[in-house]
Amino acid sequence: MKGRRVDVGVVGGSGYAGAELLRLLAGHPGFKVSAVAGQRSAGQDMRAVFPHLGLEGTIGQADLDTLRGCALVFLATPHTASLTLAPQLLDEGVTVVDLSGAFRLDPATFTGWYGEDHTAPALSPAPYGLPELFRAALPGAPLIAVPGCYPTAALLALAPLAGLVDPAGVVIAGLSGASGAGKGLRDDLHASHAMANVAPYGAPNHRHAPEIEQGWATLAGLDQPAAVTFTPHLVPMARGLVCTVSARLTGGICASAVRAAYAGAYEAEPFVTLLGESNWPATAHVRGANTAHLGVALDARTGRVTAACAIDNLVKGAAGQALQAANAATGLPETTGLPIAAVYP
Ligand SMILES: NC(=O)c1ccc[n+]([C@@H]2O[C@H](COP(=O)([O-])OP(=O)(O)OC[C@H]3O[C@@H](n4cnc5c(N)ncnc54)[C@H](OP(=O)(O)O)[C@@H]3O)[C@@H](O)[C@H]2O)c1
Repeated sequence: MKGRRVDVGVVGGSGYAGAELLRLLAGHPGFKVSAVAGQRSAGQDMRAVFPHLGLEGTIGQADLDTLRGCALVFLATPHTASLTLAPQLLDEGVTVVDLSGAFRLDPATFTGWYGEDHTAPALSPAPYGLPELFRAALPGAPLIAVPGCYPTAALLALAPLAGLVDPAGVVIAGLSGASGAGKGLRDDLHASHAMANVAPYGAPNHRHAPEIEQGWATLAGLDQPAAVTFTPHLVPMARGLVCTVSARLTGGICASAVRAAYAGAYEAEPFVTLLGESNWPATAHVRGANTAHLGVALDARTGRVTAACAIDNLVKGAAGQALQAANAATGLPETTGLPIAAVYP
């Protein structure tokens, strides 16, 4: 696909993650958006659906006719729609980058956590689109499962600790702005409730828990996934996400060894910044960028290490990461078309 602009489609372009993809794709030198599709918004003018994008054209039906001519399609859709669309597109030779949870887990684990049979078990798990940790499988992959927003931050925070901590008993607190739930309305997302409120939700059965466990098992070289305790919280802002992980250090590990592990893991990664000692990441410093900021400290009193990662859930946690993975899949430099500078304040 090198050397020319690749025609791409965005299904779910009328949703939060899809709209963010369209914003990023508008400045991408290697990909050209030639189709945008949705469900209820099909037939509507792009300018009416998302005035901030300045795009012309009409949102199409999510079918092969609308997407004909696309070499690569991003599915920014619920997992149910991805399960239907991805096999059809793959049959047509189209590369699929799926932002949903449809293809992240092995089918049995998927069924256990989603409460439904996997209708395309041969496709799952697909190569996991978290390039900093699992880049090897991405070049040329026909289907990529883009990680969830919480697993992205949690696994970036956890990865350097592999071999330094007890892999069991990891505790993770996740905090996310309301856009993490998509644009649909729920009682707890009403402005009158959400905008002056912080509350946990979904614990201990959030669907991102098995995804974190699966990634952590691979990173830590475990035969079986070790259970992690994951508690997400909804915080009163539109976008931004932090995961703070806590794990028990194995004997003899000192603070300088922990910092060296993080520095070594990420020194060559353009999107990951390890903050200085005593500094903790903030969502305000990653807003709109495809970046992850990390802080880490050893607590000698408890024998535990605390690491925190801040991302923009819609960029490094969704659309930006999808684009980074698509760049890798098609042989482009991973950084192509992706912002490192954030919007501040
Ligand atoms: N929001 C995040 O921070 C985030 C982060 C990582 C991953 N994700 C994942 O990305 C996907 C999209 O999330 P989102 O937050 O953008 O959700 P959203 O705002 O609710 O948007 C969903 C999009 O999917 C479209 N859609 C729904 N059912 C469809 C169907 N049957 N066929 C075709 N299109 C359909 C909707 O179209 P209409 O509007 O036209 O009905 C809309 O464009 C989800 O799988 C989500 O889990 C989201």
